[in-house]
Amino acid sequence: MYTRASHLMLMLLALMISACGGGGNSTHSTPTEEVPETPVEPSNPEPTDPEPTDPEPTDPEPTDPEPTDPEPTDPEPSDPLMVNGDFENGEVSPWVGNSGEVVLTNISSQSRSGGNSLQISGRTQNWQGALYGLTNRVVEDSTYHISAWVRMDNVASSNVSMTVKVSDGNGDNYLPLAQGTATDTGWIELAGNYTVATSGEVAEIAFYIEGPDAGVSYLIDDVTVTDINDDDLLRVDVEHLSALVEFPIGVAVPAGDAGNSVLNSPERQAIVEQHFSQITAENIMKPSYLQPSEGRFFFDDADALVAYANNNGMSVHGHALIWHFQIADWMANYSGDAQAWQQMLEAHVTEVASHFEGQLDSWDVVNEAFLDDGSYRNVDVGNDLGSVWYQNIGPQYIEYAFNAARAADADVDLYYNDYNISWNDTKLDAILTMAQDFLDRDIPISGIGFQMHVDKSGPGKAKIKQQFQKVVDLGLKVKITEVDLRMNADGRATTLTNQLLLQQKARYQEIVEAYIETVPPSLRGGISVWGIADPDTWIVPLYGNPDWPLMFDDQFQPKPALQGFANGLAVIP
Ligand code: G3I
Repeated sequence: MYTRASHLMLMLLALMISACGGGGNSTHSTPTEEVPETPVEPSNPEPTDPEPTDPEPTDPEPTDPEPTDPEPTDPEPSDPLMVNGDFENGEVSPWVGNSGEVVLTNISSQSRSGGNSLQISGRTQNWQGALYGLTNRVVEDSTYHISAWVRMDNVASSNVSMTVKVSDGNGDNYLPLAQGTATDTGWIELAGNYTVATSGEVAEIAFYIEGPDAGVSYLIDDVTVTDINDDDLLRVDVEHLSALVEFPIGVAVPAGDAGNSVLNSPERQAIVEQHFSQITAENIMKPSYLQPSEGRFFFDDADALVAYANNNGMSVHGHALIWHFQIADWMANYSGDAQAWQQMLEAHVTEVASHFEGQLDSWDVVNEAFLDDGSYRNVDVGNDLGSVWYQNIGPQYIEYAFNAARAADADVDLYYNDYNISWNDTKLDAILTMAQDFLDRDIPISGIGFQMHVDKSGPGKAKIKQQFQKVVDLGLKVKITEVDLRMNADGRATTLTNQLLLQQKARYQEIVEAYIETVPPSLRGGISVWGIADPDTWIVPLYGNPDWPLMFDDQFQPKPALQGFANGLAVIP
């Protein structure tokens, strides 16, 4: 066990009376007693009186200076932090059972990502499980974020927990790191921070998953151990994000009369022009902005934004021609029969799409027409707002919009856009049934837009890939249109810690990897982030919790998330 203490002890022996009492865990205890500093030379010593005039004869300069003692550096652990955390090598090692009865099997019938996971069976006690040794992998005083995904195997659900075991001069200590309820229908994450604080001779540091009753077997996958203060992991070294790939890398930007409009913000322009090849208007190309009163169209702000994009070599994704929200009151309260409503809809789509004909890459033609239960958005249901389009025209309004858009612009890509479809099978399947019908009846649809307003806990990579694959199987393009990553959906965080920064980095990376690994180049409509920097996000005003869902911080500086995104783009499909 490599302890910073053993190296410093020489220097500080007299000082470290009681080193780091309670072991660290996610609530890691700081050392119990302030360690007094060694008296050292003050950095600006008082001026001393000058020496008398007849100086001592000086010795000649010795050629090779005396070798000085090297500065004690932090000891490097002998073993890498995580080996075989994703079980993709088909092996079990270095995982061991924490008791002789435990049977560990690398299986390929179920996984959270990739093809394999680890099955833990043969358990006769609820504390038995798969154990991972950290003894030669961690450094004293460092903090590690340990994360493991768990799924029940032979029962519907069970409590599970992650425990760190420390055997040192204080005997055996068991530190609870995380707990939860796992089921056999999905994966849950157990995660927490452990700060190494041992005393005396360290026999063993390890962590394991325990909890289910005897006889219950479970699976684990995608286990990671991350040194959350590891500068290498926190470092961002991305010159031009969008230059890493051929397809569009986009960002939603505020414009028009928005106080944070990109057109009036040099900091935001710098980020957009350095890293993105496409922009989406966050609001000003929505119906209420473009046709504020019947027959009166207002394109000035949108034209200025499109010009800005084109002048900076960026394309534009239009958002959105038809939506049940952000439509002007005259439109929402329009009176007329279904035919009149159809004509009003087609007039809006035709006017807007022909105005921007040849200037845009793609449009979200219809946004959010389905509910999470797979039904069409119709009347208000609970928190789900209804759709005046469906109420007055029926489901045909969707194909009317696509046909009108294509008639107005022969080349622009036409997307159906929605949220929760990166994990909600029922909703995506209903949308794809509509898309298949459109393909069968030659209604011009180019692809499906996945909004992907997700958070740190999911959906996982395997699930996202599954959803993308369904669209690819129809030969339709896949576009991630609005990705952002809530890091504080439960409202428990008050600050953006290194741990959250690294979790967010890993999440952006796996989402982008899922895209590259699943969507063939010919069907890549692009990946857009819903906002430039954290202060611009819609999430905080709406949900009220502090949050940091984007790739640039409140100083417009890149976050490790940008590196995660770039790493994802670099994955070989
Ligand atoms: O422009 C008015 C301003 O004049 C007024 O003073 C201010 C105070 O109320 O409101 C401003 O309008 C706000 C508008 O954003 C522009 O900032 C609206 O209240 C506010 O509701 C609107 O929020 C937008 C939201 O869509 C509306 O649903 C968010 O910025 C935008 O990020 C969000 O984006 C949606 C996508 O279009 C579709 N998918 C989900 C995504 C997130 O909700």
